[in-house]
Parts: sequence; C-alpha cells; structure tokens
Amino acid sequence: MGKIQRIGILTGGGDAPGLNAVIRAVTKSAILEQGWSVIGFRNGFEGCITGEFEELTLRSVRGILPRGGTILGASNRCNPFSFQNTSAGETAPRDHSADVIKRFDDLGIDAIVVIGGDGTMSISNELARKGVQVIGIPKTIDNDVRGTKVTFGFDTAVNTATEAIDKLHTTAESHHRVMIVELMGRTAGWITLYAGVSGGADIILIPEIPFDLNAVQEKIERRARLGSHFTIIAVAEGARPVDGTQIYQKIGEEWYQKRYGGIGAWLEAELDKRLDQEVRSVVLGHLQRGGEPTPRDRALGTMLGTFAVDLLANGDTNRMVAISRDPMGQSSTDMMSVPLVVATRGPRHVPLTHPLLRSARAMDVCLGDVAGSTDD
Ligand code: F6P
Repeated sequence: MGKIQRIGILTGGGDAPGLNAVIRAVTKSAILEQGWSVIGFRNGFEGCITGEFEELTLRSVRGILPRGGTILGASNRCNPFSFQNTSAGETAPRDHSADVIKRFDDLGIDAIVVIGGDGTMSISNELARKGVQVIGIPKTIDNDVRGTKVTFGFDTAVNTATEAIDKLHTTAESHHRVMIVELMGRTAGWITLYAGVSGGADIILIPEIPFDLNAVQEKIERRARLGSHFTIIAVAEGARPVDGTQIYQKIGEEWYQKRYGGIGAWLEAELDKRLDQEVRSVVLGHLQRGGEPTPRDRALGTMLGTFAVDLLANGDTNRMVAISRDPMGQSSTDMMSVPLVVATRGPRHVPLTHPLLRSARAMDVCLGDVAGSTDD
C-alpha cells in the first residue's frame, strides 16, 4: 500500500453508545497525527453506494464525545453485495461492490475504517478480498464479536439494563409480583448475565443455558416459602426452554439476520399458568442502545479509534482492532488486532466456565438449569 493521504469511515449495523467517540478518535488522530483527510459515509455502506458522504474535520467532531447514536447515521439493512438501490429505482437486490470500490477510487480513499459487528465485518472481509484496504473496529451492545474480549456499547447497555432491574425490584416487591425483563443480546447472554448479577436478579436465563421451566417455577415457589413474595427474572431475548426453540423473525438469509423478541411474553404466559402469584413482563428493547455512553465506553471507543489509525499508519490492513483481556477484570487492557475473518466465524458466546456464572450460582441465582434449581 502506498502512503495514505485520505481514509473513509462508516458505521455499519445498528447503533451502539460510543460510536461517536470512535468517529472522533479516528478523525482527530488521522488529521492531527498523520495529516490525512477523512471522508465519512452516511448510513453505513449505503452512503458508499448512493454517494452520501461528507468530509469530517476537527469542527465536525467537536462536542460529539458524550453523544449517543452516530453522527454518520447507521443502517443494518445494507449489504453492498446484495443491495436493493431504491434511489436508482431497482426492484431486486444486486451486487454493488464494484460501485463501492469505484467510489473509493474516485474519492482518492486509500483505506477505509469500518465500525460494526459481525455482519459488518463479514462484508468488510469480502471487500478486503477484492482489494480494499480495511481496518475493522468491533461494535455492538451484545459484546458477541469474536476476536475481542469486549465491545464498546456493552458497558452502557449493562448500565441501562441494571438500572431497569433496580426499578423493577421496588415495584415487584410492593405488588408481590414476578417481574420478567427481556434484554437484548441476540444469541449471546452477556448483557443479561452482567446486568442480571449487577441488578440482583433472582433468575437469569441466557441462550447459552437452555432453561427448564420446572426449575424456574421451583425457584419462585421456594422464594415464596422462604418469605420473599416477589421474584425478578432477567431473560435474554435469545434464551430458550430446553424443549423449545428461540423466538425470532427471519429478516434475511444470513445467520445474523434474525429479529429476536417475545421470550419474555412467552415466559409470562407459561408461568402464569403454573403460579398463584401475578406475573408481568417488560421488554427493555432499544433503550439499551440509546443514550450517552458511559465513561468506560467513551474511553474504549477512543482507544480503539486511535489504535485503528496507528495500524493503518504502520501499513497493517484487513485486520480488526481488539481488546485481548476483559477490562472489567483485574488485568490491564491490552490492545491487539486479529484478521478480519476471525470476526466472521459466528458470535462469541458466554463460556460455561465464565466466573460470573459461578458467582451467580453462589448468590443462589437460578440459571434455569438443574444445577441452579436445587432446593435447600
Ligand atoms: O445487535 C444489537 C442488537 O441491539 C441486538 O441485541 C438486537 O437483537 C438487534 O440489534 C435489534 O436490531 P434492530 O435495530 O434491527 O431492531
């Protein structure tokens, strides 16, 4: 690769708190440290096809660090390899990757920084195979991108979900109810596990541990026998009963194109049939994606953004920046990078050996399996 003079940047997939911190970090370090110019594409890959972009300057990124969302706009419907361009009046999806590459050439873009989850990394990997110089930055509240131990947005989502569980506690206790909160995360239980433990949920159901309704019922009844006439259940949207399947709508052909939702309402209906206690459910939904990023997500986004520019300046491309240790742990945070293709190998799930699962059990939390339902 020749000397870089100009880079592009885009935010693919759904938004996550901390995106603006990344955009700011990439833009500032590219301009101030490298003397490059930066082109921001609007609405993910869509802007590369439709030609919606703007030059990002120091002025454009001023004041955006604490803001949620993304100043560039996002789209989780745009795959340039299969895109229906309504602005061009097309009726069927078509491969627009050559248009994207031509756009980069026409604009003099030497490399592109792509901020996104596993779907965006898959697209980026395909573009890299066609000769585009790419650096990926992992993003998702779900914390499930393979190749990194943490993604920005996760901490903010956990904070929001924990606050919701705290609030449910007071009303559940007053009304002696079983309250269920359905949390995001697709096929991974990271948000539900961290927020469930942090909020003191009594039952935590994650996709990695299919749950037994009998175990859930027993836990609620045991609590009542011991004098606690309310129960908080944190359930991940991708959780499923041992004898059932996940609840989702299919919105595309790719494995990451599933729209989850409904397990909370399902659980409410099933428990209502079994219990004397009143059962209610809420879905926290996109509130988990909104709002100001936490200081941790701002710092993480800033680190990942500056490291992405450092990689490009060193001539490294077609890699994704990553964190090699969980910064919520005791150890220091180490930056590293992995080949883009690593992020495309399916979601990163909560390992069954995760210490927080062990701690949850020690706190007498029911995880929906037999081990979590033992009576004492
Ligand atoms: O991947 C992030 C995420 O928020 C998931 O937790 C959730 O299932 C999905 O996106 C919702 O996406 P949409 O924006 O399509 O509703």
